[in-house]
Amino acid sequence: MLQGEKVVLAYSGGLDTSVCLKWFEEQGATPYALYLDLGQGEPEVDVKVKALEIGAADAFVRDAREEFVEEYVAPAIKANALYGGRYPLFTALGRPLIAKKLVEAAREVGATSIAHGSTGKGNDQVRFDVTTASIAPDLKVVAPVRDLNMSRPEEMEYARERGIPVPATKESPYSVDANLWGRSIEAGPLEDPDHEPTPDVYEMTAEPEDAPDRPRYVEIGFTEGLPTSLDGRDLPLVDLIVELNSIVGEHGVGRIDMVEDRLVGIKSREIYEAPAATAIIQAHKELESLTLTKDVLRFKAGVEQRYAELTYDGLWFTPLKVALDAFVEETQRAVTGTVRLKLYKGSATVAGRTASKALYSKELATYDPNSTFDEAAAAGFIALWGLPARQWAGVHGGTEAAPGTLR
Ligand code: ARG
Repeated sequence: MLQGEKVVLAYSGGLDTSVCLKWFEEQGATPYALYLDLGQGEPEVDVKVKALEIGAADAFVRDAREEFVEEYVAPAIKANALYGGRYPLFTALGRPLIAKKLVEAAREVGATSIAHGSTGKGNDQVRFDVTTASIAPDLKVVAPVRDLNMSRPEEMEYARERGIPVPATKESPYSVDANLWGRSIEAGPLEDPDHEPTPDVYEMTAEPEDAPDRPRYVEIGFTEGLPTSLDGRDLPLVDLIVELNSIVGEHGVGRIDMVEDRLVGIKSREIYEAPAATAIIQAHKELESLTLTKDVLRFKAGVEQRYAELTYDGLWFTPLKVALDAFVEETQRAVTGTVRLKLYKGSATVAGRTASKALYSKELATYDPNSTFDEAAAAGFIALWGLPARQWAGVHGGTEAAPGTLR
């Protein structure tokens, strides 16, 4: 069905996507490979050489770190986007960008399809397919791994027969996905939710018990909702995240072990490590508590949860998500200041916060007698605040008839 057509495949250099590449060629399609750097670390092979050897008509290697951080991570920071209140969504944020870059490459070479190596059990297939539908509805999306449903040994066999290099060393039992914003580890022994992850699972974070014995303080400076400095040094966001990953990871902070609800209905056990994301979102929330009104904070908490769900569910390029961005953006104008975190053996605690436009007022809050708070006004306020409760009690009787005690 792809005979004579051009297709652009998201290529990682690994077994799955190498098999896809070859398969496209055997279908009589003209495959192009696209490898994107989202800060996942250096690939083990020269992906361009490997893709061309397997049979790609051309192979593109592109650095998308800045675009990833500016267009995807930055809005997620402003929205404190955490799925299930915990997962910083790095994979979910990366997929719409990869899809967008696939579409761009497809336009460049005149392809009719884009392709990815997702399986049929995860969220990633949804994110690729729905993003493409949102931004390039004329393009087809092909997922050979899902559609062919090959097992790992079958893929190895297929690759060997065609001279595609297969992993020689004993394979890690884990399935890993990583970018600048975090790293996920799934499969193997981790599929038992009662199995404690062994230290070999982690790469970005130290074992808390092996972390330095002295705490490390780190000060994150924010400008209008985004981190702009570390310990007083201004840094571009990409560099700031890279540096913070190493500082925070060294202290064993940023590990997340959770059972999560996938969009396709499966509960899955996930191990994440996201040191910079954990610290930045914690600090950002802290600064918001100092600079935003009670009403905005309460309303935004609901927006944040919905925002995380839309991101998780592959709905990044949709009207609701864009509208929520506008709301969040408006709130961030006040979020400028610094937060000092204390990192110590797996924990990050807020040690201090400052903001030039802080809504906190010591004059009002102090228990000193010279407080500017008008305590006399409190009595009148409470009389009216409690009026409905008093009224109810008057009509229904006191304690015995209070709501919740009625039979
Ligand atoms: N559960 C996470 C998510 O859905 C991580 C998925 C990791 N993806 C992968 N292909 N290994 O966003």
